[in-house]
Amino acid sequence: MKFDTPAGDNPIDRMTVVGRPHSRIDGPLKTTGRATYAYEHHREAPTAAYGHVIGAGIAKGRIRSMDLGAARSAPGVLGIVTAREAGKLGKGDYNTAPLLGGPEIDHYHQAIAVVVAETFEQARAAAALVKVDYNRTPGDFDLAAALDKAPAPDEDRLGQFEQAFDAAPFKLDALYTTPDQSHAMMEPFATLAAWDGDQLTVWTSNQMIDWGRGDLAKTLNIPKDKVRLISPYIGGGFGGKLFLRADALMAALGARLVQRPVKVALTRPMLVNNSTHRPATRQRIRIGAKPDGEIIAIAHESSSGDLPDGGPETAVNQTRLLYAGANRLTSLRLAVLNLPEGNAMRAPGEASGMMALEIAMDEMAEKLGMDPIAFRVQNDTQVDPENPDRPFSQRNLVRCLEDGARRFGWARRNARPASVTDGRWLVGMGVAAAFRNNLNVTSGARVRLATDGRITVETDMTDIGTGSYTIIAQTAAEMMGVPLDRVTVKLGDSSFPVSAGSGGQFGAGSSTSGVYAACVKLREAVAGNLGLDPAEAVFEGGKVKGARRSAPLAEAAKAGELVAEDAMTWGDLDETYQQSTFGGHFVEVGVDRYTGAIRVRRMLAVCAAGRILNPVTARSQVIGAMTMGVGGALMEKLEVDKRLGYFVNHDLAGYEVPVHADIPHQEVIFLDEADDKVSPMKAKGIGELGLCGVGAAVANAVYNATGVRVRDYPVTLDKHLDRLPAVS
Ligand code: MOS
Repeated sequence: MKFDTPAGDNPIDRMTVVGRPHSRIDGPLKTTGRATYAYEHHREAPTAAYGHVIGAGIAKGRIRSMDLGAARSAPGVLGIVTAREAGKLGKGDYNTAPLLGGPEIDHYHQAIAVVVAETFEQARAAAALVKVDYNRTPGDFDLAAALDKAPAPDEDRLGQFEQAFDAAPFKLDALYTTPDQSHAMMEPFATLAAWDGDQLTVWTSNQMIDWGRGDLAKTLNIPKDKVRLISPYIGGGFGGKLFLRADALMAALGARLVQRPVKVALTRPMLVNNSTHRPATRQRIRIGAKPDGEIIAIAHESSSGDLPDGGPETAVNQTRLLYAGANRLTSLRLAVLNLPEGNAMRAPGEASGMMALEIAMDEMAEKLGMDPIAFRVQNDTQVDPENPDRPFSQRNLVRCLEDGARRFGWARRNARPASVTDGRWLVGMGVAAAFRNNLNVTSGARVRLATDGRITVETDMTDIGTGSYTIIAQTAAEMMGVPLDRVTVKLGDSSFPVSAGSGGQFGAGSSTSGVYAACVKLREAVAGNLGLDPAEAVFEGGKVKGARRSAPLAEAAKAGELVAEDAMTWGDLDETYQQSTFGGHFVEVGVDRYTGAIRVRRMLAVCAAGRILNPVTARSQVIGAMTMGVGGALMEKLEVDKRLGYFVNHDLAGYEVPVHADIPHQEVIFLDEADDKVSPMKAKGIGELGLCGVGAAVANAVYNATGVRVRDYPVTLDKHLDRLPAVS
């Protein structure tokens, strides 16, 4: 089914199940430990052996020799796979560096071997006996230095930025930096691989089933249909599990060698450098405005680094769309770095970009003597600023900011920094816009009506802790007119129709639209079987009602199960409408005037993202994102060893993320919207929107508390301690 805009009235609009606050239907399985994660498929492979992955001990160079002798004869060892044993491997579409290195090494902790043994302990002990002799070559590990020899940036321009900026009576020109960040998901990368002849099955933890399946087949040089990839439960991904990673490849290679199923989990200290991270950025922002606050020139130039053949962090995305202004320049510059692979982490692009842009907007408002909300409202735009013929499908940024200001008590904020105290605490409030694009991705589903009237949905969509199971069940229940508990949802299996997967906050809207499409087909089949006109049939209360008669839904499957399959596609919708999601983030912090320690006191997010499919799961997404934003603002940073080229703090002791005690009070408000230009669900993504802007709102609140502007994330106390107001 191809989506036709605008979406007309449809069964989803009844909102008897969709839009209601249902707890996760997979919740009981998870809270009782019965949801099987990748490493827990004991029943499927009771004879599984264990693989322990060895990571390269250098960042760049060559393996001169590997001595496997002692490891091979260690207790319990069944076999060892290195690049030599693996033979010629192909390359997947989504990996920058080979997942199995050797003899060439592309980055620190790139997998170079898997040792397979009867037990995990034996595999790990034997791995420690492998001796590797390296020939280390120099690499580039320092972003600022590597940028000096980087190619010219890729620019997008509109109007005459330089002239307009020079002529502007009010100007800002500032550099903001964000560090490398780690996804730090709870569940590590893990896979159980089993071969049956030439047929490979992997139980793994992956956000994008079809990408993972395709890339595993390509890497192993086998047909895609010989690979089945299963990932029903995922303990967090944040983009780290968008792509095939070494656990899956090494498990498959190990299992092929020892002719037994093999399990591989990457250890925490291994996975940070072995897998991907959010790359550090250096972002220069220039804004020129008239005295009344109208932006006449805006430039955002971002630089980042990645391995050869990698890509830039697209931190200027939002600056091309968020504020009006006739003269515009955005650019991305990419340096080659020999650090581990940089790639997508929750809201890639906007998350880092908003951390910079929304401090810049705060600084500019102060220069203009304007309230930071009024400054943003003044520069709101209802059309793509680079293409005025392309309107936003729906844009309520202003309402988010103004509603939020009222609810948060923004009027009580003192615009003069360092002027509010509460005992030893300097107290400040900060605001930032939230912005993240909404994408639509082709998404398929199969829906079954059983003879007893139960509905089963099958799609390779994943649930990475987001609530996919629940909103998909709600969609099918609404479409087929049955209660939620009459619907079973099966996800995360490559034997199901290919879905959008979980990424780029496109999962919720796209996957439910695919289920909608399949349900439309199933409704037609049901109506046909019951002799009803599908256009007139009303599905509700487990019945199907036509003009002349009404019948139980189950009656349509009397002669046997009914099955319907379809996918939702969007054509060139993106060219007609700019689809984005919006919000306002409000933060109050206290800064200890003696120690400089920063504590978040209150947070509020007001979000506008079309119809909210389930206020409980959507709120959880935003709460989690706000929490992650506090981490990005105040704590998270991978420390680079610039001599040896790796991330030093590669575990959860050294890589700090917020805990409950760091987050005292969070509130989330959703504007009551339905965006009929985006899909029949009229819903947009929320999971990444909640992160975009939080960091800047925190940083702006810290500035309002202290009067010390920190432009280098994370905002830690050492960066403002020596400049805090004198204690009288
Ligand atoms: Mo998201 S970084 O596309 O999982």
